[in-house]
Amino acid sequence: MAKFLVQKSEPLTGEVTISGAKNAVLPIMAATLLTEEKCEIKDVPALRDVDVMCQLLESLGASVDKRLDENVVEIKAEGDIAFEAPFDLVKMMRASILVLGALLLRTGRAVIHLPGGCAIGKRPVELHLKGLKALGVNVDEEQLKRGIIDARADSLRGTTIYLDFPSVGATEVIIMAAALADGTTILENAAQEPEIVDLANFLNKMGARIKGAGTDTIKVDGVTSLKGVSHNVIPDRIEAGTFMVGAAMTRGNVLIKNVVPDHLKAVIAKLKECGASVEMGEDGIRVRGDEAEITSTDIKTLPYPGFPTDMQSPFMALLTVAKGPSVVIETVFENRFMHVGEFNRMGANIKVNGNCSIIPGGKSLKGAQVVATDLRAGAAVVLTGLVAEGTTEVSQIYHVDRGYEKFVEKLRALGANIMRVEE
Ligand code: UD1
Repeated sequence: MAKFLVQKSEPLTGEVTISGAKNAVLPIMAATLLTEEKCEIKDVPALRDVDVMCQLLESLGASVDKRLDENVVEIKAEGDIAFEAPFDLVKMMRASILVLGALLLRTGRAVIHLPGGCAIGKRPVELHLKGLKALGVNVDEEQLKRGIIDARADSLRGTTIYLDFPSVGATEVIIMAAALADGTTILENAAQEPEIVDLANFLNKMGARIKGAGTDTIKVDGVTSLKGVSHNVIPDRIEAGTFMVGAAMTRGNVLIKNVVPDHLKAVIAKLKECGASVEMGEDGIRVRGDEAEITSTDIKTLPYPGFPTDMQSPFMALLTVAKGPSVVIETVFENRFMHVGEFNRMGANIKVNGNCSIIPGGKSLKGAQVVATDLRAGAAVVLTGLVAEGTTEVSQIYHVDRGYEKFVEKLRALGANIMRVEE
């Protein structure tokens, strides 16, 4: 198993270019199944999750030309496609569920074996299914009790759907299905993440008629067919946020390139509250932690445009060394504090009560053997390792490979003392 060895490092300094967004490219790749024509996707990050999605699309019968060294993937789902997503791929990546709507539209059926709950929470799919049922899909309830989605539909009819919670995945599945349904679908309390807007832009280029993506009400006028297109994926706001936090907490000075500042308003506001300098320029965002003391702040994760849950653990890394105590409240996932134990191994002394954690801050951390408990937590413990005395050994780094392209290379270019060792 591979590991990261991280040493206390000089402040991060220099420039880093952000890759395309993992959470945008996965639904867009799933949406290519909605046409038999070839789609070209550019700015695709070379990540394990992208590999898994390529394998999934191939297993369903699409031809996939993956050129990740050029950050390009071409997909053509011509002819017959299969209706069943293989379990060994679905269990590797929760986002496999995103093909649900496309399989129903192309084959009249979709069979997906749900993986069990993952580390950060139960992650149910009842909202995806509620939306699809409203569009006319039949779900086999007995199979569902056994953890298998077995859904059938001869045709889909537009309707009004209210989501009890603005789930990102449910919003994506529903707008993909509604794109080729008969009539109009109105989705209320929809997720507003930038990745939803990117998916809607992609679908609209293909010929879909989707309005309101990025707001809480999305209107989809169904069309009869979609065509193949070329699309550039938006930059990854969570990768950008991770490097911004790294710059601030190491008291560094980093220019973050290929980033959309509007996507990071909540993170930028919190970094400024902590005393970091964040300046927008034509070529990117410059973050400096070397001009003032880094102090504590409180955070509550929320659906977009609130503070992103995916930035909770990287930001907590900063709060462990900030001056003064901070409170972090997690409202999106019910069990997303597993990284706390890892920070505490390094001396952070964080207390957790339910969905609330209290970080005393100002700690001198010591390197330790820690685990990447999930994708973002893996990046967070690496950042902590950069400011801790001695060596931090991070295991289970396959989580990090799922979501950060060239993480070690990018950090090393900024002066970080990190290496990957294969055991
Ligand atoms: C997506 C992102 C993930 C991010 C999350 C929240 C991708 C591939 N992944 O995941 O990185 O952390 O959004 O921003 O885009 N829920 C239900 N019932 C449902 C669906 C969801 O209760 O049917 C709950 C989940 O348990 C969770 C919350 O809603 O507590 C958010 O989940 P959701 O927005 O669906 O996240 P994902 O799409 O899985």
